[in-house]
Amino acid sequence: RDQLLFSYKGILYPRILYSPEVFKALESFEARRDDVILAGYPKSGTNWLSQILNDLIAISQKKTPGSESSVNAEEQEEFPYLEIGDSEKYERMSKLPSPRFMVTNLCPEKLPKSLFQNNAKILLLIRNPKDVATSYYHFSNGVATVPSYETWDDFFTDFMAKKTAWGCYLEYLSEWNKYADKENIMTITYEEVKENPALSVKNIATFFGIPLTEEQLQLVVERSSFQSMKKNSDKTHGSFGNVLFRKGGVSDWKNHFTEDQSKKMDKAFEEHIAGTKLGKKLKYDLYCK
Ligand code: A3P
Repeated sequence: RDQLLFSYKGILYPRILYSPEVFKALESFEARRDDVILAGYPKSGTNWLSQILNDLIAISQKKTPGSESSVNAEEQEEFPYLEIGDSEKYERMSKLPSPRFMVTNLCPEKLPKSLFQNNAKILLLIRNPKDVATSYYHFSNGVATVPSYETWDDFFTDFMAKKTAWGCYLEYLSEWNKYADKENIMTITYEEVKENPALSVKNIATFFGIPLTEEQLQLVVERSSFQSMKKNSDKTHGSFGNVLFRKGGVSDWKNHFTEDQSKKMDKAFEEHIAGTKLGKKLKYDLYCK
């Protein structure tokens, strides 16, 4: 594990993707009011919501999502993950035109102050912790950036003991909960987008001030369905397609968790986040029991 992960301010990160120098340089990043920022713990559906946001940005620029003229923000600008890159990235980003799109897997304490001071708009994506853990287990066995696990039980033990990369998901949630009342932060759950994609896309567009016709809305919904994204993943995500677009559903945790593991997660949820704004938003009893 030590070969693949390093600890920065108490949280483990994959060495291949991150460095203390870039974390340091990130502090100087100046957010803008019209930045489009997606915050989410890995495996909560960040690639899905990224696609939705990129399409909405294209629409705001009078382009048709998926057409030749709508060059994907990822190709046009910097790698969208805010904390991944080199130390000069933030200097280059300061010269990019608005709206800039970025994703972050970090908890708010690790993010530059300007994100909150400049009232940049942040879409916070959360997902029920049992499905996050399940998705993460399969992910860790499909990529070289984080340690792999021979068994689900071994993974679960490490996940609960804060020995996996990006730190404890429940702590991540409780850190973000401190910001959940801010009006420039909109929280959305994986489960609600799954349940009602059209309404979710509409709400996201309204939050970012992007007007949508019914036709545009349908196009964004169609393009962001699990089936379409999986089908296109060779083009959009190369060899990671199969790992990133695995099942795309709710409750696969039931095929992994033992009774005892389920109780452990319930207890941790209770201790960290139940009863808070984000805790209630997750509808834990509906999706995790
Ligand atoms: P599963 O492993 O449960 O299938 P992230 O993008 O943050 O790494 O999250 C990956 C999870 O989001 C995976 O969950 C993946 O299948 C799911 N996902 C990706 N695209 C999706 C989509 N269009 N609709 C629903 N789920 C999607």
